[in-house]
Amino acid sequence: MERSVPLPLPVRAWSAWKNRGPRYAWHKVLRRTLGRWPDWKRRLLYADPREYWTLRGGQDYFREQEDHPTRTGRSEWIADRIATYRPTSILEIGCGYGKQLRAIRQRLDVPMVGLDFSPTQLGQARVYLGGLDRVDLALGTGARLPFADQSFDLVLTSAVILHNPPPIAEQIRREVMRVSRRFAAHNEDTDLSYNRYGYDTAAWYRAAGIELAECGPIPTEPDSAPTQFCVAEPCRR
Ligand SMILES: C[S@@+](CC[C@H](N)C(=O)[O-])C[C@H]1O[C@@H](n2cnc3c(N)ncnc32)[C@H](O)[C@@H]1O
Repeated sequence: MERSVPLPLPVRAWSAWKNRGPRYAWHKVLRRTLGRWPDWKRRLLYADPREYWTLRGGQDYFREQEDHPTRTGRSEWIADRIATYRPTSILEIGCGYGKQLRAIRQRLDVPMVGLDFSPTQLGQARVYLGGLDRVDLALGTGARLPFADQSFDLVLTSAVILHNPPPIAEQIRREVMRVSRRFAAHNEDTDLSYNRYGYDTAAWYRAAGIELAECGPIPTEPDSAPTQFCVAEPCRR
C-alpha cells in the first residue's frame, strides 16, 4: 500500500496556524520537537492538562487512535470485562470521543453518561456517539463530579487518572468512590511520560481497605506493556 509522505514540520505548523490559530500551532510544534526533553515537554505542554486535551482532542486524537488496531483490541476487551458485571448504569469519566462507551453499548443497553473536561473531545463524541439512545455527555472535571452520591452502578476511567497530577488524581479517585454504587473499573497504565504520572490504582484501593473483584494486565497488549485493569467494589470494605 502506498504511504503518503508527511509534509515538513514548518509546512504543517503553518497549516495548523491557518486552520486553528497560533495556540494550536504552538502546541503541535512543541509536541513534535521536545521528544528528547520530557521535563520541558511536561512544563511547556502539560502545565494545564485541560488546555492540552482541548488542543490535542477532537479530530486529531480520533484519527490517531482509530489508526491503532491495538486500541480497538483493548477497548473491546475492557467492554467484555465490564459487561460481565451487568451494571445497571455507567459513568465514564474522561470519555474522550466515546470509543469505550460505544464498545460497551454493543454489549449492554443501560443508561450511560460520558464526562470530559475537553470541549473538543466532547464535540467529537457527539459525532461518534450520535444516534445512540440513553448516552448523555457532560462537560466537567472528574475532580468534582456534578452528580449525587451513588448515582451510578459502575464508574469507569480509562487512561484518565494517569494524566492528572497527584492531588487531582486523588480527588478523582475519591469522586469515583462517592458516585459509584457497586463497581469502580479502571484501565490505567502505570508508566511515566511527559503527560503520564504512573499510578498503581489497584494498590490505592488495597491501601484504602477496598476489595478488588479483579486486577491484572490487559492480555491483548504485549507482555512488556505497563497495563493495569482493575475493578474495585467500593461498597465492600
Ligand atoms: C487518553 S484520553 C482517553 C479517552 C477515553 N477514556 C478512551 O479510553 O478512549 C484521556 C481523556 O481524559 C480526559 N481527562 C483527563 N483528565 C480529566 C479530568 N480531570 N476530568 C475530566 N476529563 C479528563 C481528557 O480530556 C481525554 O479526553
